[in-house]
Amino acid sequence: MIIFYMLFTWDSEFSVSIDEIDDQHQQYFKITNKLGRFLESFKKGDEVKLHLIFDELLNYAFYHLSTEENYFSDCQYSGTESHIAIHDVYRVKMRNYRQQIREIDSGFYELGVEVQNFATEWLMNHIKHTDKLYVPTLTKCLNKKTDTK
Ligand SMILES: [Fe+2]
Repeated sequence: MIIFYMLFTWDSEFSVSIDEIDDQHQQYFKITNKLGRFLESFKKGDEVKLHLIFDELLNYAFYHLSTEENYFSDCQYSGTESHIAIHDVYRVKMRNYRQQIREIDSGFYELGVEVQNFATEWLMNHIKHTDKLYVPTLTKCLNKKTDTK
């Protein structure tokens, strides 16, 4: 079976210079890589395991998006609304995938590959084009917080 999953390798260009968020981004990619490797050897009977890895990815992703959003509100980030709107589009897409994975009785492998590619590419682009915008505000705000501790 030929698989075109995306193996992500961390690179400093993906860093937002905030340790907690960098760690979460790396953890997310660990899960997308795990999903890719799992699909590489996917066979009949592995469907339940696919559900589990997908749920792990979705839960972790949603947890991560909330972490960012909490910082936006703590730091009164001016780009909050548009950034959350982008997160919401991702949430809808991932919930739809969850629904699809639960409902189909064939084509698990193809759907798994589609989800793996979408999830990997989405965060890569999102970090570069959207997350980078909050870096000045959040860095300043979080530094202030550590100063006053
Ligand atoms: Fe984000």
